[in-house]
Amino acid sequence: MSEIVNYKMMTVTQAIKDRRSIRKFKPDRIAKQQIELLISSACAAPSGKNRQPWEFIVVMDEIERDKVCNVMEQGIDQSEKERFVGTQPAIISSARNTLSIMRKAPATVFIFSPDIPHIGTPRTLLESLYDLAFVQSIGAAIQNMLLSAVEIGLGSLWICDVYFAYEELVKYFQQDGLMVAAVSLGVPDEMPGMRPRKPIEELVQWR
Ligand SMILES: Cc1cc2nc3c(=O)[nH]c(=O)nc-3n(C[C@H](O)[C@H](O)[C@H](O)COP(=O)(O)O)c2cc1C
Repeated sequence: MSEIVNYKMMTVTQAIKDRRSIRKFKPDRIAKQQIELLISSACAAPSGKNRQPWEFIVVMDEIERDKVCNVMEQGIDQSEKERFVGTQPAIISSARNTLSIMRKAPATVFIFSPDIPHIGTPRTLLESLYDLAFVQSIGAAIQNMLLSAVEIGLGSLWICDVYFAYEELVKYFQQDGLMVAAVSLGVPDEMPGMRPRKPIEELVQWR
């Protein structure tokens, strides 16, 4: 793996500071071993009751990528016509923009949870508490992937606009559990500065 995966020597704090959402990727292919490394970082995340409530579908093949993106496009069209009628048009156009990024990304990893049912499933209070813990666990797993991507010189984009084609993508992938997010990956072709953050003083109470 060491010939294919080049590590930058950096602290975790540095990786946190260097990470950006990357929306322009070079066309260079990325190696399966690089994605395996990111997924093993994801799987090292803590999880509620150590249930490890995650599963991954890696789309790297160009023909498959086009198929998935076409399914997503149909889903967004459907959302615009039926599911999100009257929603701000900017929300749908933002989803289309995300799709155009995914069409050019050398790899996109879809993250599903077999432990959480699809959106809209009625839940008891206890079940919804478990769902909450599992979604947090998956957030930690995704962030681990993103930070390891920084360490090996890859850019990433965490994507929830897949929700605008939720039904279509879940049907396409034939997955029973919740589609939580997708992450597009590739060699960055931009170096954006840090996006603004709220000042810590506004966010923290010291008691
Ligand atoms: C849960 C989540 C969902 C996101 N979904 C999208 C998305 O669908 N499309 C997109 O372009 N960016 C998406 N982003 C990226 C955010 O826009 C980005 O993290 C934020 O603007 C801060 O920029 P930074 O990541 O460069 O610090 C998402 C981020 C998170 C954490």
